[in-house]
Amino acid sequence: MGNEDISKVLIPEAAIRDRISSLASEIEVAYSGDITVVAVLTGSVVFLSDLMRCLPLRMEIGYITVSSYKGESPTEPRLGSISLSELRDRDVLIVDDILDTGNTLRLVQGMLRGHSPRSLQTAVLLRKPSKAPPDVPAEFVGFDIDDMFVVGYGLDFKGRHRNLPHIAELRV
Ligand code: PRP
Repeated sequence: MGNEDISKVLIPEAAIRDRISSLASEIEVAYSGDITVVAVLTGSVVFLSDLMRCLPLRMEIGYITVSSYKGESPTEPRLGSISLSELRDRDVLIVDDILDTGNTLRLVQGMLRGHSPRSLQTAVLLRKPSKAPPDVPAEFVGFDIDDMFVVGYGLDFKGRHRNLPHIAELRV
């Protein structure tokens, strides 16, 4: 009901859960102290929620809102609950759901880098290696996928399907 534009399940719920568990282990060993997590809204919320509960690190959580329409440049990021000045000398981990063209993360990484964190790394659940540009690094990647429109687990199509527990391909 209401999911007639979903073509097929690409990554089942259990596979996401397993991968996030191992991804969290990769992230945990990369840090020796507290971290500041900056989530890129809105698509990252489900990934953030599951990832942070697998990470036994002391962390602060902030968020950034960047809105874009495909084919257009994202707008300037707006910071939410944490102050940019608090990023100085912190180990900052950006969390987003997907690295597609890289326009969003290029903007976010550039802005956060300008506030002198001790380190800046990025975790994404999904990456499209055929499109992700080399100047936009993601140190922690859940899954590499082909260039297709995917929804679910936080990702939307026209505001819908974010609540699917799996990643699905959209029927085009
Ligand atoms: C989506 C997604 C990423 C970005 C990736 O966000 O959440 O942040 O696009 O695409 P890119 O690499 O081509 O920039 P969107 O702007 O659709 O907003 P949303 O998170 O609110 O869905």
